[in-house]
Amino acid sequence: MIIDHDVIILGAGLAGLRAAVEISRRSGDGINIGIVSKVQLMRAHSVCAEGGTAAVLREEEGDNLDLHAWDTVKGSDFLADQDVVYRFVETSPIEILQLDHWGLPWSRRDDGRILQRPFGGHSYPRATMAADKTGFFEMQTLYDALTEHKNFTRYDEVFATSIVCEGGRFCGVTMIDMGTGELNVLRGKALLIATGGLGNLYGFTTYSQTVTGDGQAMAYRAGMSLEDSEFLQFHPTGLVPSGILMTEGCRGEGGYLRNKDGDRFMEKYAASKMEVAPRDIVSRAEMTEILEGRGFDGPKGLDYVHLDLTHLGADKINHRLPLIREVTMKFLGLDPIFEPIPVRPVAHYSMGGIEADINGKTKMEGVWAAGEVACTSLHGANRLGANSTAECLVWGGITGARIVKYLETDPGMHEVSADRVEEEERRIFHDLLENEGDENPYQLKTELRQVMDFHMGVFRTGDDMAAGLDKVRKLKERFRNIRIQDKGRIYNSNLINTLELENLLILAESMIVAALAREESRGGHSRRDFTVRDDEKWLKHTLITLTDDGPQLSYKDVTITKWKPVERKY
Ligand code: FUM
Repeated sequence: MIIDHDVIILGAGLAGLRAAVEISRRSGDGINIGIVSKVQLMRAHSVCAEGGTAAVLREEEGDNLDLHAWDTVKGSDFLADQDVVYRFVETSPIEILQLDHWGLPWSRRDDGRILQRPFGGHSYPRATMAADKTGFFEMQTLYDALTEHKNFTRYDEVFATSIVCEGGRFCGVTMIDMGTGELNVLRGKALLIATGGLGNLYGFTTYSQTVTGDGQAMAYRAGMSLEDSEFLQFHPTGLVPSGILMTEGCRGEGGYLRNKDGDRFMEKYAASKMEVAPRDIVSRAEMTEILEGRGFDGPKGLDYVHLDLTHLGADKINHRLPLIREVTMKFLGLDPIFEPIPVRPVAHYSMGGIEADINGKTKMEGVWAAGEVACTSLHGANRLGANSTAECLVWGGITGARIVKYLETDPGMHEVSADRVEEEERRIFHDLLENEGDENPYQLKTELRQVMDFHMGVFRTGDDMAAGLDKVRKLKERFRNIRIQDKGRIYNSNLINTLELENLLILAESMIVAALAREESRGGHSRRDFTVRDDEKWLKHTLITLTDDGPQLSYKDVTITKWKPVERKY
């Protein structure tokens, strides 16, 4: 079946929904949108965002846009593009107030104003919060706002398999309707990719099982470049052993990190910011404590430190961190009012993504990207907490507006050839589904995640990464000998999971290739064999493109409009 829409939005998380609302209201419902999601609406991983959304709301009380911009640039270890950072800090407050007008139940101060709390690397409390369920309420509010419009069709539980481009421009997307098992084609004049991150590359991760880098992988296969893929963020407080996010809001509200001797070890690593230093620094501090024997022995090698909230009191925990208490009680039988929480660094966010300009436009005609899947060069080598949900809102809005303008130029619809659809049918339903190999996709996925946990963690070395790359390439080879147990068409989750694995494998390779090449330490990329930041050689963005000879690297300049790189100290 071939279905036409003016715009296709892949992904129904914060960025996708925000863009859909923007397109709808700007066009007076005149633009017809297809919103494709591999999960049911409101199951996008954005609902898991906890701690807050960064925005300057209190200039009269001491915050300002320059300060937010500076914090973001310094946090990025000077790899952020500064024009992009300014666009971001200027737009984020508008997004917060817009959501307020749409009815988001922000937490409030006693004077009735929206409540904000401290977050890592920010010089002012600007994480705008709805308790510790901020993403959930943002999603719900956007969904409510969207339902005011009538110009969209939802394709829930529909798995996009490939982005089809011809002659350097977008034509359509092939996708499996999971309910019927049919391969359909959505054609569109424009595409927004808003599919989120790739955290299931790792075993110990805050991500939902569904976050498998599909958008990045499809764009990469379709000829778009990935940017800064080597920068993967480890959040300092993943619950041991599940990896569930213990929001940075815990430390923003005054929580401590302690080693097994009871010391607040951040004193040694970032004395001025302590527990609310940027994530790369806190995660390295924790790993140093653990590796030097001052952590607690954990299950399955998951040694940990303590996140101690016991001095905050029941009232604060119940009002500001209710989800944290619920999760620790349900998963560990541990009440954080009385006991410290076991935590360690956990794979949380991809700073890299599909190369996109300041407007979220990719190099492919008719294609935009927004949210975590994109790399607009906002976060550089390390993202500050609370800048991610803000980015989704800001670039959801920007890309939505840009797409409306683009459609005014009447770009037309382009054919997806029957040959191309047949080729996709063959790739999926013959070459993969009917393959009679003896490799189990779930076993390969487990091994891939072990490789990434072990070889691409908080600290890296060239030898380790090279060994990791070798293992990933062997896994890619083994993938050719895959066997999918379920041979049916209807709701074949084995098949979908195998397609996800294929995406993860190419992304793992690209990430390690980019990381191996970058012979310095910067932000989330910390090498034992190249321990310092090297601005002379490496103040540049990595681009990685898929060619017939495999991933190819190139580089582009960082946009510096205001602040030259200086030593990064907290
Ligand atoms: O810790 C957190 O609540 C995560 C926020 C973020 O990644 O921005």
